[in-house]
Amino acid sequence: MTIKNLAIIMDGNGRWAKQNKLPIKLGHSEGVKALKKIVKESVKQNFKSLTVFAFSSENWRRSSMEVNSLNNLILDSIENEVPDLVDQEVSLNFFGDFKAFGKKTVSKIEDAENQTNIKNPKLLLNVALGFGGRQDIVAVCKKVSAMPDSVTINQSLVSNLSEAPSDPIDLLIRTGGDLRLSNFLLYQLAYAEIHFVKKFWPDFSPADLRRSIKKFENTERRFGKR
Ligand code: FPP
Repeated sequence: MTIKNLAIIMDGNGRWAKQNKLPIKLGHSEGVKALKKIVKESVKQNFKSLTVFAFSSENWRRSSMEVNSLNNLILDSIENEVPDLVDQEVSLNFFGDFKAFGKKTVSKIEDAENQTNIKNPKLLLNVALGFGGRQDIVAVCKKVSAMPDSVTINQSLVSNLSEAPSDPIDLLIRTGGDLRLSNFLLYQLAYAEIHFVKKFWPDFSPADLRRSIKKFENTERRFGKR
């Protein structure tokens, strides 16, 4: 079995910074560097999509200093990386409730999506920002309840109404050593293989990804069958 849709919980930036006696901000900026390498490798691997958890609904509870520095990092990353994404034929798509980052960020995100919007991208890079799996399910329920009775409620309706990309995830990788989903994609992860990696996100390399791919390829996925 090959991977079409990969998702990653990029955890451990804060602990990486602490371990290296650096400010948290630098942990996150090293996290972006790691992400750049993983995007390149994902294009090489011919994945259809890479979906990353950049900021959860619960991350709003962090200090305003950290939230601000993440906001600036997002703005800087868009500024610096969009040309490279265009060259690589990678399409960017942000999802989640990120309005609270402010108008400037919302409009930069829209620009970045427009600039990278191409017909047959080599990779779709989905960035979850202000996203929570439970909030997303509640939002889907609200949309369904507002629909006429004639609408058929089935699995594809639910995945299409979700803000998250509708493709089911084949493999989820979580770095940083914790064994949990932290309210990331819930519906879309129903049959995903899950690899928990001890390394902190800034240390996660394309070689680590290739190791995970090998392990995935050696796993039999039965989807309930014998
Ligand atoms: C988790 O580490 C990481 C985050 C909350 C942010 C991840 C964001 C990026 C790598 C930047 C993404 C930017 C773009 C433009 C996609 P943590 O701070 O929770 O680490 P800890 O568990 O060690 O404290």
